[in-house]
Formats: sequence, structure tokens, C-alpha cells
Amino acid sequence: MSYDLIVIGTGPGGYVCAIRAAQLGLKTVVVEKRKTHGGTCLNIGCIPSKALLHASHSFEDAKSHFPAMGVVVGEPKLDLAKMQAFKQEGVDGNTKGVEFLLKKNKIDAFIGTGRIAAAGQVEVTAEDGSKQVLETKNIVIATGSDVTRLPGIEIDEKVVISSTGALELGSVPKRLVVIGAGVIGLELGSVWRRLGSEVIVVEYLDRILPGMDGEVAKQFQRLLTKQGIAFKLGAKVTKVERKGKGAILTFEPAAGGAPETIDADAVLVAIGRVPYTQGLGLEEIGIQKDNKGRILTDAHFSTNVTGIYAIGDVIDGPMLAHKAEDEGVAVAEILAGKAGHVNYDVIPSVVYTFPEVASVGKTEEELKAAGIAYNVGKFPFTANGRAKANATTDGFVKILADATTDKVLGVHIIGAEAGNLIHEAVLAMEFGGSSEDIARSCHAHPTLSEAVKEAALAVEKRAIHM
Ligand code: FAD
Ligand code: NAI
Repeated sequence: MSYDLIVIGTGPGGYVCAIRAAQLGLKTVVVEKRKTHGGTCLNIGCIPSKALLHASHSFEDAKSHFPAMGVVVGEPKLDLAKMQAFKQEGVDGNTKGVEFLLKKNKIDAFIGTGRIAAAGQVEVTAEDGSKQVLETKNIVIATGSDVTRLPGIEIDEKVVISSTGALELGSVPKRLVVIGAGVIGLELGSVWRRLGSEVIVVEYLDRILPGMDGEVAKQFQRLLTKQGIAFKLGAKVTKVERKGKGAILTFEPAAGGAPETIDADAVLVAIGRVPYTQGLGLEEIGIQKDNKGRILTDAHFSTNVTGIYAIGDVIDGPMLAHKAEDEGVAVAEILAGKAGHVNYDVIPSVVYTFPEVASVGKTEEELKAAGIAYNVGKFPFTANGRAKANATTDGFVKILADATTDKVLGVHIIGAEAGNLIHEAVLAMEFGGSSEDIARSCHAHPTLSEAVKEAALAVEKRAIHM
């Protein structure tokens, strides 16, 4: 049997690409080495982490916020095994959902490791070692990414853990040291702090969340500190040694200076992710990669070998599920003779802590560096009626608009529901909208969205409630 398309990897990039290709009439097959579909995101990433964030937030709410609302329950107790089962239910529901969608779209699915034997040929090795070769016109590589390791520090997923181990812990570590104040460190650090861990985050840079708007990151750090997370910034980890049931972590100032140590019950290594191309046979067929191991592609996701494409975490760009999905749709459309496209200027990113942090477009730092003149409109949730009613007044909305044209260039939100609120900005930016466009759109009252409208009004210093 010869296919139009073989997709290797069924993460958000791969399975979405396969579905779109099938919708467009391409005879499509997927090859996935994990037993379940959905990739990193559904199995060990977005979905399980959000389930634990939701459950641990509810636990903290019941403990700390219910009494103030007059909701009287007994002292909440943690049943971690049950919480982990809740998480797994969410994962299973999602991975089974993908299996169903593949079947519904008549996409053949092979469970096994794919290796590109030649352009147009993928060899699939099943768990029992049996092999078969599939023939195809086109191949899309969507093999995703893996944890970045620290040289000399072994991840055993029990005491020295990656995000994967941090999602599976069977007991609450008394002290959790997190290496890296990025998205994973702050999300999973929040989960375990809420469940009772003392959390210390050691970060190489002198700020948290590099790449996010600086003002938002500063406010975020203040709020996380108030919640009880401790930060050691500008600190370079030099050693993590197993000791007894825990570990000792050694770090020193990044700028040089005397080393310090911290005893930890668990150490989470969260210093980024690297593209995953192991065993794909890229070297043998001469597919080019960049110096970070990402597969090089052109504007149409094509590698340097005709008929072989790549998308998602394994290529350049933010390592986000929705970016991978959009690339999956785009490459499927290109293969079907349509004009697939991804607008990389308008990809939102969200940190699902409490409060949430959400961002789209340029940061102030980026606009300054590019010499673009801009106006800022800012509105705090302390002045938003719904936030006051809900007692979730931490944070603000910040809109950056071009000083001449008023076109929205970037929006940064820290606050409850920021991850939902940001999509109004995404849509405005996708349509080339101005802050005036947002300001003149009617927003329902009382909603947190009104803070977005007020921030848009604030661009021209005419916010009503401030
Ligand atoms: P992946 O999801 O990594 O899928 C690749 C698939 O390819 C895997 O299933 C793998 O088994 C398979 N594979 C690899 N090699 C082969 C081979 N040779 N043969 C067959 N199959 C192969 N992003 C967000 O947008 N929002 C979030 O909230 C979020 N949370 C995250 C939380 C954590 C803890 C982590 C680790 C990541 C998170 N991410 C999040 C990032 C997100 O998971 C990735 O950006 C996304 O999964 C990338 O999709 P992908 O399809 O490129 O690759
Ligand atoms: P990250 O790139 O977000 O953050 C890594 C942090 O570690 C950075 O602050 C970096 O300066 C620091 N660091 C690097 N080396 C260090 C060292 N030796 N010592 C101390 N600090 C060091 O990476 P993270 O958090 O591991 O996440 C990986 C990817 O997964 C991200 O690119 C993100 O896009 C994705 N992800 C997305 C989520 C979301 O969208 N909500 C959630 C979780 C992950």
C-alpha cells in the first residue's frame, strides 16, 4: 500500500497534521512509538500539568479562600493518590480522544518507532522488534522534543526529576529545589508548593521567565514570592549529589563567587527542552539541522530533502502545542496544494499558575530594541468590578500600540483567567486591529475582559475606571 503522507509522531503537531491531511483527501498514516497518541503534550506535558495545577489550586482555594467567602468545610486533606488518578483520567480521556479522531478520519495508525529509510520510505519497528516498510509520497517529521539535561547531573525521575517525574510524584517532597525559573519550573513549582512543599527556585539569569515582558515578570515574581516560593536568581548550579533519600545541590553566583549548598528532598531540572530526532535516520539521508539540533526547514516546512517536511518542537520557534498544531494544519494544506500559513507574530503563550500570565506579540523590551515608538495602556485588576467581586485583584493588562498607527503590537496580562483573556488580543492582532478597535468594542459587564477594554482606552489616557 502506498500513502500520500506518513506523519512520524502523533503529538499536537503530528495528529493535527494527519487529520487535516485526511480532511483534504490525502491517504494518510501516522507512526507513533508511544503506546498512546497525543505526544508530550497529552501524555506528559500540557494536559497532566494542567490537571495537577487545577486540582492543587482547588486544594489551596478550599484551604485559604473558602473561609473568606463564608464557605465552611472541614480542614481539607490531600489524597495525592486520588489527585494523581484524577490527572490520569484527564490524560486518558484526551489520548483516547485522539485515537478516536484518527479512526474517524480513516487514518491508519502504526505503533512503533519510525525511521526514514529513504525519501518516500519509512521503516516501522514495533515493540516486539518486527519491522515493516511503508511507502509514501511525502513524510512529515513531528517527533517533538525531550528534556534538556545538565551535564554531570543524572535524572533518576525519583529524587532528581524532570517534568515527567514531577508529574508522577507519589508523596509531597518536604523541600523541592527547582533548577530554572521558566514555564515548567514555575508551573510545577506552584503545584508542589500548594500541596505543601517548600519550593526554592534557582535560576541562572537575574530574572524569571526570560522572554516575557519584564514588568509582568517582576510583578509575577513578587506574587509568587508572596505565595511562598523562594528565588535564588543569578545562580549557577554546579553540582547535584544524591545523599540519603534526597540530594544536595551546589550553586554559585553566575557572576562568580563563593558556592552555597541546599539540601533537597527532590530536585526538578527544568532548564528547557531539546528537539528529538534520535533514531530517525536523518544523518543517513542528509537532512540538515541547525546548531541546536533543530531540523532546518524553509517557509513551507520543507527540509532540504524533497518530500520530507518537519513541524512542531523539532523545528525552530516557540515550543508550544498550539504552534505545532498550526504548523500541522499549514503543512497539510500545502501538501494538498493550498496556501497553508502560520502567523508567527501572533502566537500567544500562557503560564497556567495563579494568577496566570499570558502574552502575545512584542514585549516592551523588544520594541525598545527595535527602535519602534509605542504607546502603553495599562489597567489594574484592582479597578475591575468582577475581579473585586471575586477577590482576584492581583495583576494588570498592558497593551502596547504603535505610536503612529495605533496598531496593537503586543499585549501582556497577569491575572486570573489571563490565558482566556489574551485571545481577544490575539484576534485583534490577527485582524491588524488597533487599540481603538478594542476600546470601541462593547464588553459585557461585569467581566474580567473589561480590563482589556480599559487598558485599550488607557493607551490614549481615557480609561473610565481609573
Ligand atoms: P510532541 O508532543 O513531543 O510529540 C512527538 C511525538 O513523536 C511523541 O509522541 C513521540 O513519542 C513521537 N516520536 C518521536 N520519535 C519518534 C519516532 N522515531 N517514531 C515514532 N514516533 C516518534 N505547550 C503548550 O502550548 N501549553 C502548555 O500548557 C504546555 N505545557 C507543557 C508542560 C510540560 C511539563 C511540558 C514538558 C511541555 C509543555 N508544553 C506546553 C509544550 C508542548 O508539550 C509541546 O510544545 C508539544 O507537545 C509539541 O508538539 P509536537 O507535536 O511537536 O511534539
Ligand atoms: P524554559 O526555557 O521556559 O526555561 C528554562 C529556564 O531555565 C530559563 O529561565 C533559563 O534561564 C534557566 N536555565 C537554563 N540553564 C540553567 C542552569 N544551568 N541553571 C539555572 N537555570 C538555568 O524551559 P522549561 O521551563 O524547561 O520549559 C521547556 C519548554 O516547554 C518551554 O519552551 C515552553 O515553551 C514549554 N512549556 C510550555 C508551557 C506552557 O505553555 N504553559 C508549560 C510548560 C512547558
